[in-house]
Amino acid sequence: MASNFIRRLVVVLVMVACVWSSCIVARELRVLTSMKARHEEWMNLHERRYDNETEKARRFQIFKENVEFIESFNKAGDKPYQLGVNRFADMTLEEFRATHTGYVRPSDIPRAMGNESFAKKYSEDVPDSVDWISAGAVTPVKYQGQQCGSCWAFSAVAAVEGLTKIRTGRLISLSEQELIDCDTTNNGCYGGYMDRAFEFISREESFAVRIRGYETVPHNNEGYLRMAVAYQPVSVAIDSNSRALQHYAGGVFTGECGTQLNHGVAIVGYGTTDDGMDYWLVKNSWGTSWGEGGYIRMMRNIEDYRGLCGIAMQASFPVA
Ligand SMILES: *[C@@H]1O[C@H](CO)[C@@H](O)[C@H](O)[C@H]1NC(C)=O
Ligand SMILES: *[C@@H]1O[C@H](CO)[C@@H](O)[C@H](O)[C@H]1NC(C)=O
Repeated sequence: MASNFIRRLVVVLVMVACVWSSCIVARELRVLTSMKARHEEWMNLHERRYDNETEKARRFQIFKENVEFIESFNKAGDKPYQLGVNRFADMTLEEFRATHTGYVRPSDIPRAMGNESFAKKYSEDVPDSVDWISAGAVTPVKYQGQQCGSCWAFSAVAAVEGLTKIRTGRLISLSEQELIDCDTTNNGCYGGYMDRAFEFISREESFAVRIRGYETVPHNNEGYLRMAVAYQPVSVAIDSNSRALQHYAGGVFTGECGTQLNHGVAIVGYGTTDDGMDYWLVKNSWGTSWGEGGYIRMMRNIEDYRGLCGIAMQASFPVA
């Protein structure tokens, strides 16, 4: 009697377990199928093609891991910024860093201007917020390309475009390609340094605009950096070795990132959010599908004097 009951119980339990596990398998299959559909959709949107099925399977795996990372980050909702599935969603951080940066600092960097002479030259009496985009001194966001470490050229050009507009009233989109191709003091798609680009532009008669040279903001001081940005857009370098940065979609970025500078960008403003968070407004060269239409707001006035991602470490701007 009793053993019969136990036998029946076991049968029922086994049946329940089978149904349960097949439900799980079915659900996992559904998730996988819908992820595959998302990948296909994403491929169409970004006109992405893969050479063969092996490569596609590998890319799908990376895409899936990135989407899961992005979704769990957003679900946690504990940061003032969000991530999104942008055109870089099928790349690992290593691949992204290797192909979409390009800031290389030479060993013989010139000394920055001293605190005092900088403070004498540039007023400390600066507005609470500055926005060179709405002032009309910033050209549309560009894309440095899928395989070209030319961020340095885009960073320098953004600063020169800003200065030109402020000085002449004319907003002219200048050619990064000319710098990449002709500035032999830098290394084209293999990296470069904004200060050298400024020197090249100041020497080159044929370049569309004239500048006299450049000035370096005293290192590691967000106060001085703000004084410079109040005058004009400023070239800076950041550490972009950050998965959150690769997938950044909006809000005030607060890290994670270190201070190993590897990416040139341009600060085109600063301000404070309604809830009191100070930020830098930064123009990037990763296209408009990244960030806030190609821009990022990065937390300003942090405890570390080097600034978030090292943004206050190496700042410079062209002078007319
Ligand atoms: C598939 O494509 C990848 C990426 O282009 C390539 O590295 C790999 O050798 C290809 N594999 C085959 C089997 O053709
Ligand atoms: C410039 O200011 C920074 C930060 O306030 C300070 O750490 C540094 O020692 C100053 N440098 C000079 C040369 O006064």
